[in-house]
Amino acid sequence: MKGAQMKLSGRTILITGGSSGIGYEFATQLLARGNRVIVTGRNQAAMDKAKAQLPQLETIRSDVDDVAAIRALCDDLITRFPKLDTLINNAGIMRIIKLGEGIDLDELTDEVDINLNGTMRMTELLLPHLKRHRNGLIVNVSSGLAFVPMPISPAYSAAKAGVHAYTRCLRAQMADTALTVVELAPPLTETPLYQAEFSRRMNGQRGMPVVTLVKKAIAGIEAGKTEIRPGQANALKIASRIAPGLIFRALSRVT
Ligand SMILES: NC(=O)c1ccc[n+]([C@@H]2O[C@H](COP(=O)([O-])OP(=O)(O)OC[C@H]3O[C@@H](n4cnc5c(N)ncnc54)[C@H](OP(=O)(O)O)[C@@H]3O)[C@@H](O)[C@H]2O)c1
Repeated sequence: MKGAQMKLSGRTILITGGSSGIGYEFATQLLARGNRVIVTGRNQAAMDKAKAQLPQLETIRSDVDDVAAIRALCDDLITRFPKLDTLINNAGIMRIIKLGEGIDLDELTDEVDINLNGTMRMTELLLPHLKRHRNGLIVNVSSGLAFVPMPISPAYSAAKAGVHAYTRCLRAQMADTALTVVELAPPLTETPLYQAEFSRRMNGQRGMPVVTLVKKAIAGIEAGKTEIRPGQANALKIASRIAPGLIFRALSRVT
């Protein structure tokens, strides 16, 4: 059965947004398992720092929100790394947005442009290549908020619900190919994204350690799971089914 023997070793893996947080921890653990790992990000200094920590890491500056740049990136990747068999669509941002208070229209949709459109475009560019591999793998990073929106982050919640829906469609369309499509829905996780602003808004609630999150993700992929919802992300999905009003009211209290 597809996914049942999914080994995360000996692969060539592209991680978008791999200079920090979950992407960087994926890079760390996947390099330690004997994979070749390439990461992208916008900030060269952050990638240089990652490279200094992990000298085997390949880093390429690229913004998933720049169509011309990702076209060039994917052409270059296929030429330089023809064994590329795994794409982890991880790059993402999350902001607090007060609706109706004058945010610039271009900025309003940044999470949709990066987290959702970036995922769909990177996938579209690399699908023909990944489908040719015997064990191709795409991992799309969504969120527990894909199942229940959090009103202070409307664009983020919309984008992650979109990643969830898109990933289900992609998996269904790839059903008769050798490609495995996995969704990783992290819970609150201790990364710069969470620690910067949201930790305070959530009364200092501790997120899952990023090392634990990535270990659970890798174990889930290797066990053949296609929707991995560690910790509270699973609770959010269940609550969205059995008590949708209650859980939405709870997330509406985060201000
Ligand atoms: N931490 C959590 O609690 C949590 C929970 C659920 C889901 N997630 C998801 O997990 C993923 C990783 O988040 P994180 O917590 O690890 O955040 P993080 O520490 O802020 O890391 C985000 C990474 O994405 C890169 N990035 C952002 N925009 C990009 C773009 N346009 N093009 C290319 N790279 C870009 C960043 O580098 P540059 O800024 O240099 O580009 C950085 O390497 C995101 O999709 C996030 O939504 C996180």
